[in-house]
Amino acid sequence: MASLTFNDVTTAQLLMMGDGLLEGGDLQLAKAVYQRALREAPPAERQRIHTRIGLASVRTRRTPLLVNILKAIESSGFSNADPFVADGMATWLKTLPFQDDHRFLELAEKHSALLPIANWHWNLFVALWAVRECRNVPGDFVELGVFKGHTTLFCSEYVGFSDWPKTWWLYDTFDGIPDDQQAKGWENANKSLYQGTFSYEEVRDRFAHAPNIKVIKGRVPEILEEGAPGQIAFMHVDMNNAPAEIAALEKLFDRVSPGGIILFDDFCWSTARAQYDAETAWFAARGLQILGLPTGQGLFLKR
Ligand SMILES: C[S@@+](CC[C@H](N)C(=O)[O-])C[C@H]1O[C@@H](n2cnc3c(N)ncnc32)[C@H](O)[C@@H]1O
Repeated sequence: MASLTFNDVTTAQLLMMGDGLLEGGDLQLAKAVYQRALREAPPAERQRIHTRIGLASVRTRRTPLLVNILKAIESSGFSNADPFVADGMATWLKTLPFQDDHRFLELAEKHSALLPIANWHWNLFVALWAVRECRNVPGDFVELGVFKGHTTLFCSEYVGFSDWPKTWWLYDTFDGIPDDQQAKGWENANKSLYQGTFSYEEVRDRFAHAPNIKVIKGRVPEILEEGAPGQIAFMHVDMNNAPAEIAALEKLFDRVSPGGIILFDDFCWSTARAQYDAETAWFAARGLQILGLPTGQGLFLKR
């Protein structure tokens, strides 16, 4: 981390400096400038600085666009806009439920490098809410599609899952989406995002501290035949893969306890339209509905 010393510089000047660095691609220095600004910023200024720290934590080609959206909201004239800008979502004039939760903000930043998407806070907040709601629901937790382990690591660390009398079963090929389950047009994204960018060993080691979190390598749905919980309280479905997600529902839906939650990560992303169509139809055939959220997630509460 760069070490910076400034005297007589206002928060506004520091943010201008940081924004220039961020747009120019120097994320590390931009982050150091924002962190310096945060130290002395009044409470009303803190949210926009946290948003910038989040943008400086993940390198994507969309960063300049996200900074410009943030600046456009700030110049809108609302004195309490509390702008929040993430990849695929911006909010303002909203109370951010994680804004004053220092532990949440700290953990979100600590694990941000595990996902190539900036400011995943709203999505993490929804997942964390579901995890906490399911604490006393009978059954285990499941994640289908783990990647580097970001969501489960964040939630399990936040709630102290090691002390819960439950097991969290994490399934992934650790090699991306299998060719025969790949949506047309997404083959290149699959290669660049997943193939060779992470490994089973790395994720297993990341959860080595937690004996009640099992990292399982295999392809869904076939791997579920080799071992899956008989009763499920919470299931996070995040494979960017409509056929595998539908096959998993066929296998596991009846095992979800009343009061349990299924959270679909990709449901309302327009880039995952095949999942939206397939899952909407699957639930409608049973007289049920998934609630689409502006985060892109889909939330289903089992009664
Ligand atoms: C969007 S990522 C998961 C992100 C993760 N939930 C997180 O919080 O960071 C999608 C993952 O699904 C996995 N995947 C896709 N199809 C699969 C299948 N049929 N069986 C197992 N894993 C699969 C990919 O390897 C990839 O790691």
